[in-house]
Amino acid sequence: MMLLSDKVAILTGVNSGIGRKAAEIFAKNGAKVFGADIRTDKMDELRAVFKACGSEFEGCCCDVRKAEDVKAVFSRAVERFGRIDIVVNIAGISCDKPISRISDEDFSRIMDINVRGVFNFCKYAVPYFKKQKHGVIINTSSITGIYGSGMGCPYPASKAAIMGMTKTLAYELAPWNIRVNCVAPGVVNTEMVAALGERARKTFERSIPLRRMGEPEDIADAIVFMASDMARYITGTTLCVDGGYRPSTVNP
Ligand SMILES: NC(=O)c1ccc[n+]([C@@H]2O[C@H](COP(=O)([O-])OP(=O)(O)OC[C@H]3O[C@@H](n4cnc5c(N)ncnc54)[C@H](O)[C@@H]3O)[C@@H](O)[C@H]2O)c1
Repeated sequence: MMLLSDKVAILTGVNSGIGRKAAEIFAKNGAKVFGADIRTDKMDELRAVFKACGSEFEGCCCDVRKAEDVKAVFSRAVERFGRIDIVVNIAGISCDKPISRISDEDFSRIMDINVRGVFNFCKYAVPYFKKQKHGVIINTSSITGIYGSGMGCPYPASKAAIMGMTKTLAYELAPWNIRVNCVAPGVVNTEMVAALGERARKTFERSIPLRRMGEPEDIADAIVFMASDMARYITGTTLCVDGGYRPSTVNP
């Protein structure tokens, strides 16, 4: 069953990891996608994936921190596909330093990409969604925004901020039939996590009841569900996709 037939979606962070996999699964579910990422080297491959699925992909370089870039994504997507039904914010960066080594610049960079970036895409989606009286926004938080993490405090802070923004926008925008939700991945097997090293990986695996790290498709499938009409009565919530993970209080 194709869950997103004829839907048009904007996805950020499509050049790698969870965003890339989400774009592929959107293609398999019949959606047309406009991808936005600061890196674009994998976008031609994605275009081919969509073509093979009988769907369409367009993408461009966009720094989610910059309002001008974000506005351009919306006008290009509407120009190409005629409308937008779904916005999925996936672009993000992590942090694994102790507080003594986190500079002002580190803090600002994480907040700007992870929080301002999501704000920008929500803000510029709203006029389109209000006008058509429907729309879906899905933001990518993290279970670290709920439980905290061993270190790298700006990252969980940014992910908790996303949950607060999501709930508020869900209440504010419900009168226009706009749903706003988060997915909160646990530990997922992407470059972001590979960078943390083998010891951290083993520690994580021991804390996951399903005894494996998540794969990007585990998260992507949850995003497709939340974006589809199957989730039509769900708004203002955070769907944890984490294999039952509960944190150890010991640093990895
Ligand atoms: N991997 C995990 O274990 C995990 C767990 C919880 C949450 N998440 C969240 O999932 C999302 C995707 O993570 P991932 O593991 O796939 O990471 P990733 O590093 O593989 O992908 C992130 C993507 O965001 C893009 N990006 C970075 N800065 C950008 C900017 N300024 N403007 C536009 N694009 C930018 C990158 O180019 C990249 O394509 C992130 O928001 C991350 O916080 C990941």
